Amino acid sequence: SMIEVERHAGVAVVTVNRPDAMNAVDVQHAEELRARLTELAADPDVRVVVLTGAGEKAFIAGADIKYMQNLGVHEGLRWAELGQGCAELLETMPKPTIAAINGYALGGGCELALACDIRLAATTAKLGQPEINLGIIPGWGGSQRLARTTTLGYAKELVFTGRMVDAAEALERGIVNAIHEPGELMSKTRELADLLAAKSPVALAAAKEATNLAFSGDHRDNLRTEAHLFSMAFATDDQTEGMAAFVEKREARFTGR
Ligand code: CAA
Repeated sequence: SMIEVERHAGVAVVTVNRPDAMNAVDVQHAEELRARLTELAADPDVRVVVLTGAGEKAFIAGADIKYMQNLGVHEGLRWAELGQGCAELLETMPKPTIAAINGYALGGGCELALACDIRLAATTAKLGQPEINLGIIPGWGGSQRLARTTTLGYAKELVFTGRMVDAAEALERGIVNAIHEPGELMSKTRELADLLAAKSPVALAAAKEATNLAFSGDHRDNLRTEAHLFSMAFATDDQTEGMAAFVEKREARFTGR
């Protein structure tokens, strides 16, 4: 299928499967991606979602340029909304999302990676927002999330020039959390996903909701929301279990209640 979903012990790996076009995303791919992400967001058995691309060359080389060639203004808006919908799901679903960037992450591909909570990249990956070279601008969140992830000046440089950066530079600039040899990227990603899948999912959901506020809205309101979310954790079995396990010097076994 266009979007493959493989589940293993609480971790769902979502693979954009169009390797002969560098996993570029057209309308059907984007609609299917949105549908799969919507299901995974609502599935309590899924604790962590990983996004990656099929093959060795590309994560996602962006929105399909051949599809976009003949778009008008109205269709352009629809297309931005569809891609932003996928990005918003990755950013806001109540469980961690990890981008395993196994190659080119360009345009919409870079934007989907930026919407994930954590980004791991192969040393061979290349990232960028080359839209300017097509006479357009990022439309799936890149103008906002790249600046929030790095700095406004660096984001402007990449968005204005369309320059592709290698994995080492992406790491130095904080676009990605870590880089790994290509052959080790998926095993390292699974290691991190398994680690997160063993945490309390209710605590993780609250942690994600709280940290997502960091660059938006009013600081004082956000601190009040943090205090509220913190207090709600004391209504959960996972808080009782987590603290009992610490005191009894044993591993916690979280149930998600
Ligand atoms: N859309 C459609 N097709 C694409 C594509 C894309 N974004 N990226 C790659 N492909 C296709 C190529 O057309 C080619 O197809 P054919 O075999 O039919 O010719 C195939 O994938 C292989 O690509 P290349 O031959 O170009 O491979 P390469 O190794 O020489 O180069 C690359 C790889 C640097 C990724 C290059 O393909 C490239 O620059 N792709 C376009 C990247 C880009 O501009 N992405 C941004 C799109 S705009 C966007 O995403 C808007 C937004 O914000 C939502």
